Amino acid sequence: MDTDTTVLDLEPVRPLIESYRSGEKTIIELMLDIQGVYNYLPREVVEFVAEEAGVPISILYSLATFYSAISLTPRGRNHIRCCIGTACVVRGSQFVLENLKRELGIESGEVTEDGAFSLEEVHCLGACALGPIITRGEKFYGHVTKSRVREIINTLRRADQECA
Ligand code: FES
Repeated sequence: MDTDTTVLDLEPVRPLIESYRSGEKTIIELMLDIQGVYNYLPREVVEFVAEEAGVPISILYSLATFYSAISLTPRGRNHIRCCIGTACVVRGSQFVLENLKRELGIESGEVTEDGAFSLEEVHCLGACALGPIITRGEKFYGHVTKSRVREIINTLRRADQECA
């Protein structure tokens, strides 16, 4: 259930919708651009896009649920995925996942209070030979060890604070 009562600023979405309407962007590109603004696609924004772009809301939700890169649930500025597929598990990914939870102070599917991190468990990222593997956006971290988790998170945390 969506319990967030914050009123979203929809202004940043208007020029993005215009780029879709002019044919400059595809609907997927539009959705990814919007996700870049909010870190996910809030329900309110999906409704706004449907109305302003003239795209049936059912199509938007179908695309959002089909493409794993698009999220309808809140994500942190650093969305961390940890693979728990078989090839990664046999190389110790469950320990990596436990350390991620400990370092971030959240469970899978949650966002840190400051909005800096979110964590997701996934089943195979298609790079099994590099397991255990975690990702942050497009970046892959391969052969991750329990001890390397802290180093990766600290580096990302510093970069996030510098951007704040
Ligand atoms: S099982 Fe982890 S990348 Fe395939």
